[in-house]
Amino acid sequence: MTTVDRDKDQFGSNLDLIGRDKIDDLEAVLSFVGKYDVEGFHRVPDNCPAESIEVDQEQVVIANAEANPAQQQWDEAALAGTALEKWDDKRFIEFGIQNQNWLLSQFMHGEQGALLCTAKIVETVPWIDAKYYAATQVMDEARHVEVFSKYLDEKLSGHYPMNAHLGLLLDDIVADPRWDMTYLGMQIMVEGLALAAFGFIHMMTTEPLLKKLLRYVMADEARHVAFGVLSLQEYYKQLSAPELRERQEFAFEAAIRMKDRMAMQEVWERMEVPTADVVKIMRAAPEQDDFQILLFSKIVPNLKKLGLLDAADGWLRTKFTEMGAIAFEHLSDSTEEEDAFADGSPAERQVV
Ligand SMILES: [Fe+2]
Ligand SMILES: [Fe+2]
Repeated sequence: MTTVDRDKDQFGSNLDLIGRDKIDDLEAVLSFVGKYDVEGFHRVPDNCPAESIEVDQEQVVIANAEANPAQQQWDEAALAGTALEKWDDKRFIEFGIQNQNWLLSQFMHGEQGALLCTAKIVETVPWIDAKYYAATQVMDEARHVEVFSKYLDEKLSGHYPMNAHLGLLLDDIVADPRWDMTYLGMQIMVEGLALAAFGFIHMMTTEPLLKKLLRYVMADEARHVAFGVLSLQEYYKQLSAPELRERQEFAFEAAIRMKDRMAMQEVWERMEVPTADVVKIMRAAPEQDDFQILLFSKIVPNLKKLGLLDAADGWLRTKFTEMGAIAFEHLSDSTEEEDAFADGSPAERQVV
């Protein structure tokens, strides 16, 4: 249709609208083919604005540091004698950029693990309703892998391979043929930790695109974790004491692997900081430890709800007490807050 100047209530003529006077003018109809797209391809002007948020990593590092001063404090005494003592501002900013690259890379690898695990749950879980649900989760996880990998490719400046501790954990989860171990490892431990980590980064980052995409991913993860708790709850009630003990050990091992991963060893290596220096700096940064413990804020209440904290004379309770994470047992579990991040929910209105 061509645009014509005309009065408001005057209809366009056939010539204006369809390029010919007579509707059944066969010669005019046949005259288009072969002449319209003479170059073999067709360009269509879009004429509407598309949204694209540019990410300047350096600016994000600076803005995040200003917005979260407590996160950025370095202990001067701990830096003395280490490679960091001679770092200038530029080097610290580079460190911040590498942190972003590392963190988002690990998110992406974790999501790939979730994709494989949920596909496996579709195969192994005995109930048809759980298979249906797991199938929707497979689709969610594929979307998460895609969004994180796109963000890495298009907005950040480098990838990191999967962290060795995360790799060991995912190997254990994927290799176990028992459906409930896949649930415990992925739905309760990995996704529970992811939910807390996404929440923390969501709260801390000043980068609007990351904030937005994390919010969408969190809405999905909250549902996935709740599904895991609901599915395992009944099943664990009929397990024997030795069987429960095996699950407690599995949960403990997973927790330690996830905590170890947060040392971000690959970033230090890329920044050419010797291991002895890293140990010195990290030992002097108790707030880093607080952050690592915060990552268990979703996991501990869920393990409690499943009865795993208190089975076998409270073996797992003792372990989480040693780790300093037992206080989280009083927080609400994921079945009580599965919709917390859904569109329009009170929490969502607060965080956006
Ligand atoms: Fe996910
Ligand atoms: Fe998930």
